[in-house]
Amino acid sequence: MKNIAILGSTGSIGTQTLEVIRKNKKYFRVVALSKHKNQKLLQKQSKEFHPEFVSENLIKVATYKKADLVVNALVGEIGLAPTLAAIRLGKNIAIADKEALICGGKKLLAEAKKHHVNFIPIDSEHTGIWSILQKYPHKKISRIILTCSGGPFYKTPLEKLRAVTPAQALIHPTWRMGKKVTIDSATMMNKGFELIECCILYGVAPEQVEIVYHPQGIVHSAVIFEDNSIFVSISKPNMKIPISFALFYPKHPPQKFLKPSMKNLTIEKINDKLSSLKLCRAIAGKQVSVLKKLVEADELAVKKFLAGEIKFLEIVKFIKKSIR
Ligand SMILES: NC(=O)c1ccc[n+]([C@@H]2O[C@H](COP(=O)([O-])OP(=O)(O)OC[C@H]3O[C@@H](n4cnc5c(N)ncnc54)[C@H](OP(=O)(O)O)[C@@H]3O)[C@@H](O)[C@H]2O)c1
Repeated sequence: MKNIAILGSTGSIGTQTLEVIRKNKKYFRVVALSKHKNQKLLQKQSKEFHPEFVSENLIKVATYKKADLVVNALVGEIGLAPTLAAIRLGKNIAIADKEALICGGKKLLAEAKKHHVNFIPIDSEHTGIWSILQKYPHKKISRIILTCSGGPFYKTPLEKLRAVTPAQALIHPTWRMGKKVTIDSATMMNKGFELIECCILYGVAPEQVEIVYHPQGIVHSAVIFEDNSIFVSISKPNMKIPISFALFYPKHPPQKFLKPSMKNLTIEKINDKLSSLKLCRAIAGKQVSVLKKLVEADELAVKKFLAGEIKFLEIVKFIKKSIR
């Protein structure tokens, strides 16, 4: 029985984490949950999972004494301090919160190593790469391939993007996610963030990470080692798969996963029409202070867009300006 603390249980990743736990009650017990705006859902979750501790204080939840594994399902830099605090108390981490991961940079991994804790990314691309590297820890990475399904506007010409509304940008063709990551997917800043995460998590240079267009969302990532052996991560687009891997680690999830259709899979050169990938690639190798600026500028730009203060095409421009 593993004791789980969840930061952000009411969000997309948080609720899916609880769905996995609901189906595997003999393996997991929810001991702590964090509280934010959605009190109604939190109450419902508390009634079902009976956590011993619920609090607005993220550090107290992350360091709850009985927790073995802390799932960081928060969105934003806010998740960094509780994650660090949990690591320092020797708690294993499963992290979806990519903003915290980027702001923490290599320090997070160094702390995890120092305190002998597992640090497991939750993301279809990164869980795939991470699982491959668990199997082959001594092989040298030549390149990493990340796929990108492009979001709702990949095929829309630039001039038509001027009039995009928040409601249109919040519809993702493949994934049901929180608002911030959905807008980041529409601008492809999300993929740029994943490129930066690659550099942090696997110690590769930005030029070793290639991003390709794959609209079916079945192939998530690949690792090409220096001996030219290639390992590819393939599954249905379902976040409960990476979440299950993270929760069960070092064991393999016991359930069967549905087979994805392997018909008509396509891979094409990516069209970075908003230059978000170019921007993130240029910043990926920089110091943490620059990465933080990027994350903060992106958070603010998305907020402004959702509030109707800037247009869709101004999001990446706003970020570029803010980090100059
Ligand atoms: N969703 C996906 O499929 C997906 C896939 C890959 C990676 N990710 C990454 O996973 C992270 C979470 O994404 P998500 O889609 O699950 O986000 P989300 O649906 O917006 O959920 C965010 C969670 O964090 C809580 N929260 C937000 N601000 C907070 C604050 N200031 N203090 C305390 N709690 C706060 C929210 O609580 P309330 O509900 O009470 O506001 C909610 O529980 C992001 O970094 C995203 O990029 C998500």
